[in-house]
Amino acid sequence: MTAVLDWLELTVRWVHVIAGIAWIGASFYFNWLNDRLAEPETGDPDLDGELWAVHGGAFYRALRYRTVPRGIVSRLHWFKWEAYLTWVSGFALLILVYYLGAEVYLLDPGVAAISPLAGVGIAVGSLLVGWLAYDRLCRSPLAAHRRVFSATGTLLIGGVAYGLFQVFSARAAYLHVGALLGTLMAANVFFVIIPAHVELVRAVEEGREPDHAVGTHAAARSRHNNYFTLPVLFVMISTHYPFTYGHPWGWAILLGLFGVGALTRHGFNLRNSGRSPGWTWPAAVAMLVGVAVWAGVSGRAGGHRLSIEDRDVEYATVERIIVARCVSCHAREPANDLFEAPPGGIVLETRAQVEALRERIRAVTVDARVMPLGNFTGMTDEERAELGAWIAGAEPR
Ligand code: HEC
Repeated sequence: MTAVLDWLELTVRWVHVIAGIAWIGASFYFNWLNDRLAEPETGDPDLDGELWAVHGGAFYRALRYRTVPRGIVSRLHWFKWEAYLTWVSGFALLILVYYLGAEVYLLDPGVAAISPLAGVGIAVGSLLVGWLAYDRLCRSPLAAHRRVFSATGTLLIGGVAYGLFQVFSARAAYLHVGALLGTLMAANVFFVIIPAHVELVRAVEEGREPDHAVGTHAAARSRHNNYFTLPVLFVMISTHYPFTYGHPWGWAILLGLFGVGALTRHGFNLRNSGRSPGWTWPAAVAMLVGVAVWAGVSGRAGGHRLSIEDRDVEYATVERIIVARCVSCHAREPANDLFEAPPGGIVLETRAQVEALRERIRAVTVDARVMPLGNFTGMTDEERAELGAWIAGAEPR
């Protein structure tokens, strides 16, 4: 059974990445195209831009029309399935990894003592309520004031990140902030952007003026999606970086990295519209360095208040801890039903294996407390401190 689920997860993840690339890729392409179009060479008054390009051994000429040309509606390509498939496969992954495996992936008894069912309820609820709140905000008078709106949005995202950190394991909290932004993006396409295109096409077919408010509103949602892309992509790779989500200030680091992503995107938008990216890229780099330095200074064991003062810890103590807290998962044949094979390829059955991996063990159990996964085996702070002290002592100084 576990093997079937593993293969299913593999397939769904693969589809998710492919669909995501197709979606974001098309979005990047059109953003770029829009801002690179030159004056059309032909005198056709319906055209307002054209671009010549070469790709894969062929030459292309893209033309942009001011309005919907007559008679092409049935031949229009809509660019929507990539978005829907990305969301559907992403949600399927959430179920396969975080909801079916809620006890180890979603929850952490050291964070909040809630049942898997309650956890899944909060997780799914956060996506739903998040969308409803965002949609409301976009339709409120606040939306007219771009700066105030962005500031409010950033504060809300920070609030959501902080809130999720109070109920889920750090890793799941990160992923759900990303899943929320991804949900907003896909829902924007489904509920606002595509319906606006439909209205545009229908108006032309019926020979009436399209409702311009609908178009303007859809453009705003498109812009939001554009700024969400880079932050969402970071969350999707964040599971590789326990020093971010496992940091005592994980939620604030996430917000900082979102800032880096949004600023970077802003620079591209400026450049694509023929302006200079100006201060945006240097600011993004400075912010990235700032977040990294601050994380380094405030993180490490000190941030989690473990006392790893110079004390001698015997290997016998370490072995007892590893056997009690790690080996149920990290064995050639894991006793934990969730795993067919040692997770992450990590086996901790012999002293040599533990010694060889001590740096990575320190990173995930002492600096960032993301192992044992979901603290499923109930590792104590004292044990983390002992493990940390032994690793510090085992290092050549
Ligand atoms: C409930 C199962 C479980 C337990 C218990 C557990 N781990 Fe893990 N561990 C995992 C999984 C799953 C991964 C793969 C993480 C991923 O999906 O990225 C992993 C990955 C790791 C990694 C590799 C992380 C990296 O990217 O460098 C290390 C090191 C590790 N665990 C150490 C430990 C130690 C030490 C303990 C005991 C203190 C422990 N684990 C307990 C499930 C577990």
